[in-house]
Amino acid sequence: MKILTIESLVKLLQLHGFENFIKDLICCLGQDFSRWQSFTIIPRPGMKVPDGVMELMPICDNRRFYTFKYVNLHPKNPLIGKQTVVATGQLVDITSGYPLMFSEMTILTAARTAATSALVSDYLARKNAKILGIIGTGSQSEFQVKALQVVREIEEVRYFDIDNRAMDKFEKNLSFSNLKLVRCRNAQETTYGADIITVCTANYGHYKILKKDWIKPGVHINAVGGDSRGKTELEKSILPMCKIVVEYFIQAKDEGEIQVFAESKARKLIHAELYELVKGVKEGRRDDSEITLFDSVGIALEDYSALRLTYELCQKYDIGEDLSITPGHGFAKNLFALLKYG
Ligand SMILES: NC(=O)c1ccc[n+]([C@@H]2O[C@H](COP(=O)([O-])OP(=O)(O)OC[C@H]3O[C@@H](n4cnc5c(N)ncnc54)[C@H](O)[C@@H]3O)[C@@H](O)[C@H]2O)c1
Repeated sequence: MKILTIESLVKLLQLHGFENFIKDLICCLGQDFSRWQSFTIIPRPGMKVPDGVMELMPICDNRRFYTFKYVNLHPKNPLIGKQTVVATGQLVDITSGYPLMFSEMTILTAARTAATSALVSDYLARKNAKILGIIGTGSQSEFQVKALQVVREIEEVRYFDIDNRAMDKFEKNLSFSNLKLVRCRNAQETTYGADIITVCTANYGHYKILKKDWIKPGVHINAVGGDSRGKTELEKSILPMCKIVVEYFIQAKDEGEIQVFAESKARKLIHAELYELVKGVKEGRRDDSEITLFDSVGIALEDYSALRLTYELCQKYDIGEDLSITPGHGFAKNLFALLKYG
């Protein structure tokens, strides 16, 4: 079984190139969403704990792999120097049920979340979108910017965070890009002239981080931070103004921005699940004045895409340590012999 630590994953991304990885991941997501019906997926079970939530995200392909990810969400973690979101995951061969790879997935989660925003934005954002407004410049933020650059020629990024140090860090991390970086004094300023608005703050509660009065015709919104029960970022009245796309309705209705509506109303408000856009069953943006919204919560299929791509690249670059965590060959029906007992 391949073990991929954070160090090995970083090495892999350096060898392959981070931009290439994001491009490949957007491509893998497109392929996997296009065969949505060949997966067995369930809404993730989330278990509330005093300062966060613990989630398990399994999915099974009918061809090759079963994957699952463990992920948390602890918004107070940065106060003690830890990530708000941390994750590990496993890729399993469905023919034998034997695990093939155990991987760090904190970086992979940020990458797949951003790649999914980019995939959706490619269907929903205006083709000439150039200005991105981003609210919340924590761990996810630079990934969101880099992935959007794959699908749109972003020239300017306007950003705001209530924490000045998070904005300093964001500026430093993107200082080598060719982007015009505009530091804003409040959330509203990020929306001035923005073609795409990405909201990725981390708070429990129903907040109005993005307000209806700030939304102009033609804007596309990626709502990334409202991804758990009791946790939303958009003023409720924004939703009926938008063409809304979700990844997987059953999960989104409990965890996404649409959770603030009763299920029947939420169902009416949703234009499509992402696979319907990818398969061409439903249209993306129709004209330049539509307001569109990706109500992102993150689903197991995105982790599947990230894990299968990472596994393929591990083999290509010979990265990761092969360790026998489970019993090897030759002990069928004789597990006891492994104990060397007696
Ligand atoms: N949809 C998905 O698939 C997905 C995947 C991963 C993370 N997320 C979510 O994305 C969010 C961000 O995650 P992260 O890892 O970047 O967390 P983080 O804690 O590193 O960053 C969050 C940032 O939001 C800022 N913030 C909080 N309230 C704000 C406000 N009112 N205005 C402006 N900024 C504010 C904080 O200061 C912090 O810098 C979380 O809510 C997380 O649950 C979603």
